[in-house]
Amino acid sequence: MASLCVKPGISTITTKSFNPINPNRSLFFSKTSAHPPLQSTPFPTTLKCSLSRRPEYIPNRISDPHYVRIFDTTLRDGEQSPGATLTREEKLDIARQLAKLGVDIIEAGFPASSKEDLEAVKMIAKEVGNTIDDDGHVPVICGLARCNRDDINAAWEAVKYAKGPRIHTFIATSDIHLEHKLRKSKEEVIQIAKEMVSYARSLGCEDVEFSPEDAGRSQKEFLYQILGEVIKAGATTLNIPDTVGILLPVEFGQLIADIKSNTPGIENVVISTHCQNDLGQASSNTVAGAYAGARQLEVTVNGIGERAGNASLEEVVMTIKCRGKELLGGLYTGINTKHIFMASKMVMEYTGLPVQPHKAIVGANAFAHESGIHQDGMLKHRSTYEIISPEDIGLYRSNEAGIVLGKLSGRHAFKSRLRELGYSLDDKQLDDVFWRFKSVAEKKKHLSDGDIEALISDEVFQPKVIWSVGDVQVTCGTLGLSTTTVKLIDADGEEYVECSIGTGPVDAAYKAIDLIVKIPVVLREYYINAVTEGIDAIAYTRVLIQPQDGHTSTHAFSGDTVQRTFSGTGAEMDIVVSSVRAYVSALNKMLGFMTSDSSASRVPSESSQVSF
Ligand code: KIV
Repeated sequence: MASLCVKPGISTITTKSFNPINPNRSLFFSKTSAHPPLQSTPFPTTLKCSLSRRPEYIPNRISDPHYVRIFDTTLRDGEQSPGATLTREEKLDIARQLAKLGVDIIEAGFPASSKEDLEAVKMIAKEVGNTIDDDGHVPVICGLARCNRDDINAAWEAVKYAKGPRIHTFIATSDIHLEHKLRKSKEEVIQIAKEMVSYARSLGCEDVEFSPEDAGRSQKEFLYQILGEVIKAGATTLNIPDTVGILLPVEFGQLIADIKSNTPGIENVVISTHCQNDLGQASSNTVAGAYAGARQLEVTVNGIGERAGNASLEEVVMTIKCRGKELLGGLYTGINTKHIFMASKMVMEYTGLPVQPHKAIVGANAFAHESGIHQDGMLKHRSTYEIISPEDIGLYRSNEAGIVLGKLSGRHAFKSRLRELGYSLDDKQLDDVFWRFKSVAEKKKHLSDGDIEALISDEVFQPKVIWSVGDVQVTCGTLGLSTTTVKLIDADGEEYVECSIGTGPVDAAYKAIDLIVKIPVVLREYYINAVTEGIDAIAYTRVLIQPQDGHTSTHAFSGDTVQRTFSGTGAEMDIVVSSVRAYVSALNKMLGFMTSDSSASRVPSESSQVSF
């Protein structure tokens, strides 16, 4: 088996400590390094957008030591973010976009968590896992499993339809987890890990990833031992999670370097990183891991995930693209970064998790230059303040700056503005949004980019329609009880009208809707915002609801039964109508789940499940 990281022309260094921040003091314990010692090189002024050829996929090795695999876990770890429930169709849409981006591996879910998740992963394996793109690339489809047979069977059942199926199994290795969660000895944990990796292989799965959960707080000697054993049992990728996000880049880089130097058989597998963001270090830790020899990086779009989230795909990929050549020994990925912006939008809309304006790479302000000094510099030469150009991530600068869309704007102008905003919509989606745009433009003279984005959110990124909004009529004020009448239309076109009183018009409207839909829900969050200034602004509403008779899934780490919540958005010039649209959108998402997953499987907690 060829070594992962050594090839002619790549230097061998004997060193003592690791510091990815300070190049001059960047020293490794390992005898060989995947890259030459860091040198100070001139900073690139522009970023070249070229794609290098992706090496052929072989589970346990990568023929080019500079190539870094991108493993996207938006649909698994990302979906564990509170309120981020995704329907099957939404997951499939995101998986298609991830394939367009060119990610190497899609972790599509945790199939043992619910019947819905198993079916979603299976659907992705069948479709996305079998669609070969023009460059001959098809992503590997991965399913997560705890170290027990039921989980591994469920994961295999879901992923086996893909051309490249992978099972990712994990068990905790830190003292704190062994004592309080698993209540097992180290020997027992090694035994379980070995047996479950070889069980996964025995099913016919040739691509098995193993993670020692909470590796960041595990004893290193124990890590070397368990990792060495799972390699013998057939693991092909070893993923090193900083599960609680406690490590700093210097420590995480050192951990990867130490594992690389001390684990028996490590040259026969790919080392991976999985960094949580509790101290805001996830992306930096991930890059430090790559620098130290990891060749698979686990990330999520927009950095979403459990608690403070994960390393963000766009930050890690753009860092490697920007600095990989000069500072990281020539590392590169197979990501087509022009699809980043659309992926970010899609994930934001479907999960209902907004992206902060100042978020690196994809935030609304990432390419905005407000201050006079910056604007002056930008006008003289863009590279004064811009290290990445918006086009690199799929955002196109307006060459019609100053032209505002209004009711006389045609489809062509509208379409080109959508492209400038980073959206690539199909013809049907474009028709739907254009129609909405025209109807709003009848009432509002000029539509800003923010208005257009709100309409896209309302029209395109919506769950399957079970109920649609017909009419809304409101009476409110200081004289008496607010009253709202709502007309909803079901999937067969039948109309239902109900009227209710409430503390205000929105409360009354939601009560009237409840009378029609007849499924008790709790409103967890309600947010409304005017997209632009002025009395004719579009109101954007987002709600989060939870069914009263809970719809549940099993949490991957705790084994607890988790209540799902469902988000919905609406956009209209009338605030009550906007609120109604958001509520109905959330109900549609929830009802879509209820019909497709009436018998969510319940899986006992991990501590009671490790017997085999
Ligand atoms: O954070 C974590 O430890 C994980 C593992 C399952 C990789 O998500």
